[in-house]
Amino acid sequence: MYQADNARYETMKYRRCGKSGLLFPVISLGFWQNFGGINEFETCRETVRKAFDNGITHFDLANNYGPPYGSGEETFGRIMEKDLRPYRDEMLISSKAGYDMWPGPYGNWGSKKYLTASLDQSLKRMKLDYVDIFYHHRPDPETPMEETMDALAQIVRQGKALYVGVSNYSAQETKRASAILKEMGVHLLVHQPSYSMFDRWVEDGLYDVLKEEGMGAVCFSPLAQGLLTKKYFDGITVGSRAARGTFHRQDSLITEENIEKAKKLNELAEERGQALSQMALAWIMAREESVSVISGARNWEQLRENIGFMEKMDFTEDERKRIDEILKQA
Ligand SMILES: NC(=O)c1ccc[n+]([C@@H]2O[C@H](COP(=O)([O-])OP(=O)(O)OC[C@H]3O[C@@H](n4cnc5c(N)ncnc54)[C@H](OP(=O)(O)O)[C@@H]3O)[C@@H](O)[C@H]2O)c1
Repeated sequence: MYQADNARYETMKYRRCGKSGLLFPVISLGFWQNFGGINEFETCRETVRKAFDNGITHFDLANNYGPPYGSGEETFGRIMEKDLRPYRDEMLISSKAGYDMWPGPYGNWGSKKYLTASLDQSLKRMKLDYVDIFYHHRPDPETPMEETMDALAQIVRQGKALYVGVSNYSAQETKRASAILKEMGVHLLVHQPSYSMFDRWVEDGLYDVLKEEGMGAVCFSPLAQGLLTKKYFDGITVGSRAARGTFHRQDSLITEENIEKAKKLNELAEERGQALSQMALAWIMAREESVSVISGARNWEQLRENIGFMEKMDFTEDERKRIDEILKQA
């Protein structure tokens, strides 16, 4: 039987999310890819167990993670049953709805009908009574935001989620969502944006809003899906996300220009005595609005390397400037 490591809280750092009592580990584990029905269950199980053994208390899921859809949550449910049930109160588990999930008019976007049904399905798959955080996964231009926020507020009142968040909402949309929920007596606590050295949109207003609203950012694709590692330096490595054909927006991201930049960033990382992936994660967490980076590691080996970023999280002014210059280069 699995027994969690007694030393699991000795080295992990935790950061408070906005104005709340909730602490996140500075690195979390995400289930978007690599934990679906097509993946080797024992590899998934080992990654999750080792994550927990090392103080990673937060596991990020969504209804459609897989493939196939739903299978990321099913994998998590199996691991919950086999290993983690006794530790439920030490874990922060999130799910989301907002993207395509099931056929017909009620399996996508932001209606109350969809969000309510989807969370009920997610809880069954994950074998949970409640999630810690439930997100609306993306803004819906057609549904009134009041309805979507009403769904989140109801989910909190029903005890099916303790906290709620939004993902992929712009600065303006986030401000509005937060105001609507405030009227309903619910604090919109978390935003899940993409954020990496290659994707800095949050710096253009979103992080200011998060500060004003007492919210925190839990950042996804922090390694730009693997581009901020050495794996694409000599072309597309066999077995990589790009080789598997599941690299989102591959054509605009895996470019010669970005690989050149990654190589230069790698030189700086080496000077700092860390891997490029570690420097890329530390760079995100240098902002106080960043509460956690969600690693999409494929196995324990990758995750172990990524956790090592905590050993050097600070940057000199000169290092910051060099990074900005490299990223600006055309
Ligand atoms: N809210 C949203 O809309 C949204 C969208 C996307 C993701 N997310 C969340 O964020 C999580 C992370 O996203 P992501 O998977 O794109 O994150 P990521 O950490 O940027 O990319 C993960 C990929 O990077 C590579 N990698 C990670 N660590 C490595 C290491 N140490 N050495 C070499 N390669 C390494 C692996 O690629 P290979 O497989 O090629 O080895 C892995 O599949 C997701 O699981 C999900 O929970 C949310």
